Amino acid sequence: MADIPFDKRDGFIWFNGELVPWADAKIHVLTHGLHYASCVFEGCRMYGGEIFKLREHSERLIRSAEILGFEIPYSVEEIDAACIAAVRAQKLTDGYLRPVAWRGSEMMGVSAQKNKINFAVAAWEWPSYFDPEQRKKGIRLDIAKYKRPSPETAPSMAKAAGLYMICTISKHAAENRGYADALMYDYRGYVAEATGANIFFVKDGVIHTPKPDCFLDGITRQTVVELAKARGYEILERHIMPDELPTFSECFITGTAAEVTPVGEIGPHRYTPGQITATLFGDYMAAVNPKQAAKAASA
Ligand SMILES: Cc1ncc(COP(=O)(O)O)c(C=O)c1O
Repeated sequence: MADIPFDKRDGFIWFNGELVPWADAKIHVLTHGLHYASCVFEGCRMYGGEIFKLREHSERLIRSAEILGFEIPYSVEEIDAACIAAVRAQKLTDGYLRPVAWRGSEMMGVSAQKNKINFAVAAWEWPSYFDPEQRKKGIRLDIAKYKRPSPETAPSMAKAAGLYMICTISKHAAENRGYADALMYDYRGYVAEATGANIFFVKDGVIHTPKPDCFLDGITRQTVVELAKARGYEILERHIMPDELPTFSECFITGTAAEVTPVGEIGPHRYTPGQITATLFGDYMAAVNPKQAAKAASA
């Protein structure tokens, strides 16, 4: 399955109000979203038949579209229902979902005031974002050349396709140098996040994480902050300078796709996945799949 191109798969995609055969979920080459990145999306995961924090994802999708100046023609309840219909059509109990909304083809130019807003949801099986062996040891991060832009330069709080241009460039550059991903600094030079996940550090039993003032405050990040607080860990959300990187002992990244993934290296700096990373990894997996956690606990 992993080797089948995404446009050649079987099943159904929820597309502008109905489930259409996977191969028919097509758009025209003159689509505004393709040329001008007038496109927002979500990434959600389903565990044991439940989509984790679906409502939060649907609400964020609507907010992202509003930030880009368009309104998705479906309510939050209808977006939730489309997501559920898409996973049911694929007969998934565990998998990944991609809701996406974009400006269509009615006008082709920077201005696209009359363009139809399209909305689709596709779902598929997607086990681990990183190589499971690398993940156990802690993945290796390079340091990206591109910086997360200022909120005065780009709509940095939206999960908008255009913001991923520098992420793909950075991730490709890192992979070409043998790393799994890249750490991005922000426009001020502070440590920001990985190309598709937020980042946390540990020093002397205290958790430190960058303040999300110019990048996505991920739903996983917020979940992990709550889990850490519930454990009684001290957690500091603050600006982190790159010269602090060698002072931390543990590091991990968080995201819907990445879940909680230990980091072993950032450039020349080394980290050892330790107690706090392992605890929060376990707590996160229990939070996303409470039925499985209860089964494991009673076995
Ligand atoms: C750039 C970026 N930052 C952070 C995240 C983490 O967000 P979430 O935990 O909501 O998936 C993601 C993943 O969606 C991302 O793409």
